[in-house]
Amino acid sequence: MVYISVIGLGYLGATQAIILAKLGHNVVGVDTDKAKVASLNSGQLPFFEPGLGELLEEMIHSGRLEFFSDYPEKLLDVSVHFLCVGTPQKVDSDEVDISAVLQSAAEIASRLSPRALVVGRSTVPIGTAEEVVKVVAEVSGFGSDTRVAWNPEFLSEGTAIEDSLNPDRIVIGVEDQESERVLREVYQPIIDSGIPFLVMDIRTSELVKVAANSFLATKISFINGVAAVAERTGASTKLLASALGLDSRIGSSFLRNGLGYGGGCLPKDIAGFQYQAEAVGATEFASFLRSVRLVNDGRIDAIVMMALEMLNGLSGKRIAVLGAAFKPNTDDFRGSPGVLLAKKFAALGVEVSIHDPMVKKLLGEERIRLLSSVREAVREVDMVVLATEWAEYKTLLPEELARLVRSKNIIDGRGALEAKDWASVGWEFRSLGEGGTSS
Ligand code: UDX
Repeated sequence: MVYISVIGLGYLGATQAIILAKLGHNVVGVDTDKAKVASLNSGQLPFFEPGLGELLEEMIHSGRLEFFSDYPEKLLDVSVHFLCVGTPQKVDSDEVDISAVLQSAAEIASRLSPRALVVGRSTVPIGTAEEVVKVVAEVSGFGSDTRVAWNPEFLSEGTAIEDSLNPDRIVIGVEDQESERVLREVYQPIIDSGIPFLVMDIRTSELVKVAANSFLATKISFINGVAAVAERTGASTKLLASALGLDSRIGSSFLRNGLGYGGGCLPKDIAGFQYQAEAVGATEFASFLRSVRLVNDGRIDAIVMMALEMLNGLSGKRIAVLGAAFKPNTDDFRGSPGVLLAKKFAALGVEVSIHDPMVKKLLGEERIRLLSSVREAVREVDMVVLATEWAEYKTLLPEELARLVRSKNIIDGRGALEAKDWASVGWEFRSLGEGGTSS
């Protein structure tokens, strides 16, 4: 058992704290958001993640997990501190804002016991750990005895427990053997189950996460780039992806074409990586990453163009967007392609309604009506656009929707619907990446 603190209780930190308690450790979680801390202490997860709420309750009852909204004195007894605070994109820049990491490092440093280890887990640009070392060394007064390590996370929303307990790999960046020993102890049960444990220098470990997410984004943009060709030439991206995916060197994951990638990680991480590539003079690679982003943004424009063509103009038209979450099985709409599309429609004079099974509030989007029933969202619209492939949209009945809408136009932005089911009852059906499916 290791005595651990987790600083920052967002999606990453809360999950990390609960999982570490599950692994048998004593965990103190800290976040300045009082409401969040109160909610966690009462066993209520402040966001949706399958299974994690139950695990939180179990861990609170075990007595191994406790949350605080200030930095408690007991941090002095902690031997490993995980920094899990947010690293947002700066306003009007692609640069990553690491100020919260440095600030939390300073807070910890003023309550640090001499042998304790500070571990960064947030996604950061290369070189951040060195800044953390400087801050911790100065504030704690430990100088060259300061111990800092990095341990990037790779969890996906919707599968966070499985991704944490049974990850593809654990990566740690360390400068000394004692830090490695402690981190092995923290993750011992997972290492014992045969999960690869990769030990490397800190700079490389910082790079692993942004490189992995940028690669995933690249894969999605590759298939979406091919989709732009397929749409214009009568080919089918779905069939093509099934053939490409069977090549074991390529693999079938992250080859689903559609409205593109969104969320709190991929868009931000690739932007930050492009910024750093540019800053260090890797200009060709920076333009490569820029192209990946342009292809992704272009998918929203492709739908707008399709809608414009199908409706002979957009101003004054009514469109229902199905899906506000950035992907199914989450209530997270950060960087959601569906919301970005709805905003673009609204800016072009469209009356937009949006539906989502789980998102209940779209902060600051007053031009878009968020409705909790699909039937209400599609009532009297000129077009329906599927933006998130929620299971419930796949079972929508084309005949039933036909009775509610003003005109039977539908665009499938995720390749989730069967074209023939819709076309056979009179819908004008178009799908991103499918040149041959318009009715
Ligand atoms: C991602 C990484 O997968 C995870 O390892 C990292 O720690 C955090 O970022 P997440 O943001 O939860 O996780 O979402 P992910 O499942 O990767 O999907 C990202 C976006 O790509 C979603 O908008 C999804 O709809 C889209 N996507 C995914 C596609 O458009 N096509 C695909 O084939 C796969």
